[in-house]
Amino acid sequence: MEKHMVAITYRTIGGQIEVFFFPGPTPEEVVKQYQQLIGTPILPPYWALGFQLCRYGYRNVSEIRDVVERMKSAGIPQDVQFSDIDYLNQYEDFSYNNDSFADLPQFAKDLHNNYSMHLTLIFDPAIEVDYAPMNRAINADAKFIQWPRADLVPTDTQNRYPLIKNTSIMLGKVWPVRNVAFPDFLDTEPKTNNWWINEFMLFHNQVEFDGAWIDMNEPSNFGTKFRNSTTSTEKDDNAPDLECPKVGNDSKWDLPPYETQASFFYGNDGHLEGKTLCMIGKWGRNKYYLYDSKSLYGWAESFATHKAIRNATGKRGISISRSTFPSSGKYAGHWLGDNTARWEDLRSSVIGAQEFNIFGIPYVGSDICGFGQNTTEELCLRWQQMGAFHSFSRNHNDKNMAPQDPTRWTTVAAAARKANLFRYRHLPYLYSLHFKASLFGGTVVRPLFFEFPADDFVHQISYQFLWGSSMLIIPVLESNKTTVDGYLPSTATWYSLYDAGYGQKAPNGNSTFSAPWDSLIPVFLRAGSILPRQTPAQTTVLARKNRFEIVIGLLNDVGNGHSIANGELYWDDGDSIPPADLSTHNFHSFIFSFDATSQNATFIITKTKTATNLPLPALENIEIFGYQWTPDFSTATLNGNSTDITTLSTYNSTSQILNITASGLINLNNGGSTWTFVLANNLPIQTTTHTNGGGSAEKTFTILLGFFILFFVI
Ligand code: GLC
Repeated sequence: MEKHMVAITYRTIGGQIEVFFFPGPTPEEVVKQYQQLIGTPILPPYWALGFQLCRYGYRNVSEIRDVVERMKSAGIPQDVQFSDIDYLNQYEDFSYNNDSFADLPQFAKDLHNNYSMHLTLIFDPAIEVDYAPMNRAINADAKFIQWPRADLVPTDTQNRYPLIKNTSIMLGKVWPVRNVAFPDFLDTEPKTNNWWINEFMLFHNQVEFDGAWIDMNEPSNFGTKFRNSTTSTEKDDNAPDLECPKVGNDSKWDLPPYETQASFFYGNDGHLEGKTLCMIGKWGRNKYYLYDSKSLYGWAESFATHKAIRNATGKRGISISRSTFPSSGKYAGHWLGDNTARWEDLRSSVIGAQEFNIFGIPYVGSDICGFGQNTTEELCLRWQQMGAFHSFSRNHNDKNMAPQDPTRWTTVAAAARKANLFRYRHLPYLYSLHFKASLFGGTVVRPLFFEFPADDFVHQISYQFLWGSSMLIIPVLESNKTTVDGYLPSTATWYSLYDAGYGQKAPNGNSTFSAPWDSLIPVFLRAGSILPRQTPAQTTVLARKNRFEIVIGLLNDVGNGHSIANGELYWDDGDSIPPADLSTHNFHSFIFSFDATSQNATFIITKTKTATNLPLPALENIEIFGYQWTPDFSTATLNGNSTDITTLSTYNSTSQILNITASGLINLNNGGSTWTFVLANNLPIQTTTHTNGGGSAEKTFTILLGFFILFFVI
């Protein structure tokens, strides 16, 4: 094996370095070992795998109602509607605008009751220091990031606000009109987190939100260095900006000998304080300098909000956080932050999602169609198609940009509908991947080199990715294309799961694949895999009631003429709060195995864990790719008893697609733990398509042929 030298240079200005080695040897094992250290990722609620829509700049609830209605009329599956800071009263957390958003509480109820949808609201950490939540915080002895010494406190600023004038809280400026304080989520007593949780509960009594979007938590502050950089028109321009010590001994925190490169992002006179708080600030009840611990702010807020969302809703809920740190994935998901509507941003989001899976945060996605700048029809279409394959799949747009929800263009609406329907059909597989990652660690959206580490060529591939080990996606990431160049690793066999050559073997190695706007982007099923799926619907709440389906890609000729495939399904109620030890949660798990020879096919479902009070829809469709024999549908048995599949099942000997369909085919609720489905084949005569019980007609023909041959021999 080739040896690679790696060199890393660290320039340290304090602190200590701990180095961990994870031996692997495969990349996927490295991630699993890493997650043994930092914790396995959170299990999102099932609805959080549905499509989500957002924008900054909705003017009122009725505008949001309109877009939800348009999505529904266009038949584009959508599960979650967001509201950005527009809903807030003067951008104050835990409030809503009683004028333009007066209808928000009713809207939340309507989303639940009339649309089977969910609502996610934004919560920024910065709390304005002169309203009720701040009052409750002070009364509860909650803490905020503070100056370490009284002589550093700018008393003029402090004195503007009766609630906090005798404190050393460090005041900044973010969206709200007046100055803000930053909760001390590392408070060594639980008082700050308890106050935060209580605020969520109080607000949930008013508006029944389901998810929390926690933004600006680097923490982000507009005042330091960047005056007048807010877009809030109601700003109190007299609210002082934050000034950090720049001379004397106290300046060492913001002007250390080496400043991180990010300090210079906005010019050479930048320092560590830029767009954030002063590094001399302390938290953890005055224990830790921000200088040493600032990167933990988003992590700590995620930890608190994870509890807050669950306490407030009584359900699993989910938060997505802009700032993350190792082990954030245990408490929250992540969106890739403010991107721009450019092709290069679409491309980097493909890489970003794979990276965050490696970091242990598999619930991740980008702002579909691009956040900053106006998008274009083509870019938005391609982004919708790609984004349907990211776990967190949300279209989001900046305030002054033209609308870009998928209904804006008929082409994008059609592409988003198609991509989302495909996604929804395969959600049982995506959810099972998340379930396994939560139970055992590992990735969900996976780089190719994780599955094929010995294939040198895949080490250069950044723009394709896998769902788990079994589904490979090749997105279109450039303009003016109706095809895309891609690579299918040669050590596996691949079946097309998309429009071009559906169910057919695709060529290994480098190829050019058809990818017009009205097709799905190329998606392939790895031979040897069984994926659980479900008939899609407008929302996941509705889809979860539909029949289960299975798709099988046969790995042919594995020895003694066998064709095989394997897979699994994890299934729970999708919404309850699991115990800390997920393995004790109330869930079903199943193992699927398929084995066929020229004689017959045997499909076995084994239940490895049974949930109580959790009925499952029946499995009513099994689609098999690469089936090389003509089955006799009249021979089908389930657990030894004859079962009628003759009416709807089909076999096409040219495409080698076998489709077994019957109402109530396999009832997974009948108390059993193993289901064995067997189907005999006819003698190996390859003929054309047979439907509606054609198998038995062919059997008669085969027997006659047998007699004829016998007669001739005699
Ligand atoms: C930040 C977020 C963005 C959001 C905006 C307004 O820029 O990253 O997603 O729309 O703030 O809340």
